[in-house]
Amino acid sequence: MPAGESFYITTPIYYPSDVPHIGHGYTSVAVDTLARWHRQSGDDTWMLTGTDEHGQKMLRAAAANGVTPQEWVDKLVSESWFPLLTTLDVANDDFIRTTQERHETNVQVFFQKLYDAGYIYAGEYEALYCVGCEEFKPESEIVDGTGPFEGLKVCAIHSKPLELLQEKNYFFKLSEFQDRLLELYKTEPDFVRPDSARNEVVSFVSQGLKDLSISRSTFDWGIPLPWDTSHVIYVWVDALLNYVTAVGYGSDETAFERRWPAYHVVGKDILRFHAVIWPAMLMAAGLEVPKGVFAHGWLLVGGEKMSKSKLTGIAPSEITDVFGSDAYRFYFLSAIAFGQDGSFSWEDLSARYQAELANGFGNLASRTIAMIERYFDGVVPSAGEYTAQDLAIQQLVAKAAAGADSAVERFRIDEAIADVWTIVDALNGYITENEPWALAKDEEQRERLGTVLYTCAEGLRALAVLLSPVMPQSTAKLWGALGAEGGLGALTAQPLRDAGRWGQLPAGTVVQALAPLFPRIEATA
Ligand code: ME8
Ligand code: MG
Repeated sequence: MPAGESFYITTPIYYPSDVPHIGHGYTSVAVDTLARWHRQSGDDTWMLTGTDEHGQKMLRAAAANGVTPQEWVDKLVSESWFPLLTTLDVANDDFIRTTQERHETNVQVFFQKLYDAGYIYAGEYEALYCVGCEEFKPESEIVDGTGPFEGLKVCAIHSKPLELLQEKNYFFKLSEFQDRLLELYKTEPDFVRPDSARNEVVSFVSQGLKDLSISRSTFDWGIPLPWDTSHVIYVWVDALLNYVTAVGYGSDETAFERRWPAYHVVGKDILRFHAVIWPAMLMAAGLEVPKGVFAHGWLLVGGEKMSKSKLTGIAPSEITDVFGSDAYRFYFLSAIAFGQDGSFSWEDLSARYQAELANGFGNLASRTIAMIERYFDGVVPSAGEYTAQDLAIQQLVAKAAAGADSAVERFRIDEAIADVWTIVDALNGYITENEPWALAKDEEQRERLGTVLYTCAEGLRALAVLLSPVMPQSTAKLWGALGAEGGLGALTAQPLRDAGRWGQLPAGTVVQALAPLFPRIEATA
């Protein structure tokens, strides 16, 4: 995309009732990496995350802990959810909480609009509800319980009994939007990505849509409907609206114009809410639909979707305490094809940390800096005449940078990292082949030695720039060690779409000692 365009990207807003696990962390670092990439490319970038604080799940958890729901969410958000962003080095621009006034007021504005336009009507409702999902379950997701739940209907996802609800509800005429949604998926083939997600959504909508219950009257932890305050707005539709209320819907037209529409990145568990219900609500309100919805896969632990309710949850800090936040980000974003499920294991994490980060990237950085210190008193030498081998490196860097940028355009962070990693592998091979330590023994080869080490240093310059959205901390250390700030300015100010252009690091730059970027991890078990 041309630089300067608006790039607004969101994570789901998480339920704070549980402590964050690596699944939430996965979505957040993916979105943060995409946002950092675009920000560093000069796009008008905005990253939003937040928490989804209404609904029955929250109400019950608060009651079980003997506090009001507001006290309960305040505590969870400040003790667990804000700190997650620091733990994972997420540079969000905003954090929305659905209990904030800026949200509640404008959710009411939105629903009043839909009501006035005739898209909402009152009706009787009877259906099975899963509090874990905060959703009335379709036939296909209702199964027979086993063990303690023998004889009961349970949720296929949570394996917990469903509750039969019978009440007066207000309904949104979702059924009227089938044709317009199918038209949207057809004319904007990238509206839902990846293809597997798109196919699922198209086939779901093709089967016809039922109207959606959008209010509840048996509890009051939610936003009241403006025209009937005996009802609160269904937590899911309340939550979806965060994406517009956070950027000024109903309150700041200029901000809203500037940011909206957004790209939404979500786990595939909540794809239908984002790719079906949400665009239909926006169409009904006469607003633009999102630019796109990308559904990533599930992190599996021991072959099952990792989840707190099934006790397979792993806290992100368990990983970052040992490996650091950069390794967390790198591991999940590179090891799993974005859009597919991926298995987490400590063995795989350790192995990749050692092979790719410590021995691959880290070692390339350490030995390049060390050789410049040893053979050139810490001053980056100028390159002499380039050989075909050097030119091949330059071409590879240009190709990797272009490939990475186009992969990020497709939201394929894993492919972008794979492209960038061709530089790491090529430069390590280049050092082995050129044996700078041997060149250093021969005064006649002084110029060649300079060319080789310049090539390595300039390659590292490109790597620091290209990897900075993924690993902000180690690349900042590398930037410091390369002494690049003086000649080139701050790392995060290096335009990413220009990263592949050769020869940016000035010869004469003074490097500084570099402690290992990815230190050896002592076995803890
Ligand atoms: O659904 N693997 O919140 P939530 C990968 N409040 N990602 C996972 C994951 C796993 N095993 N487990 C969770 C909600 N996630 C609603 C959202 S948005 C308007 C409202 C991630 O706390 C993934 O992004 O249950 C998933 O979609 C999200 O956490 C669900 O978070
Ligand atoms: Mg969930």
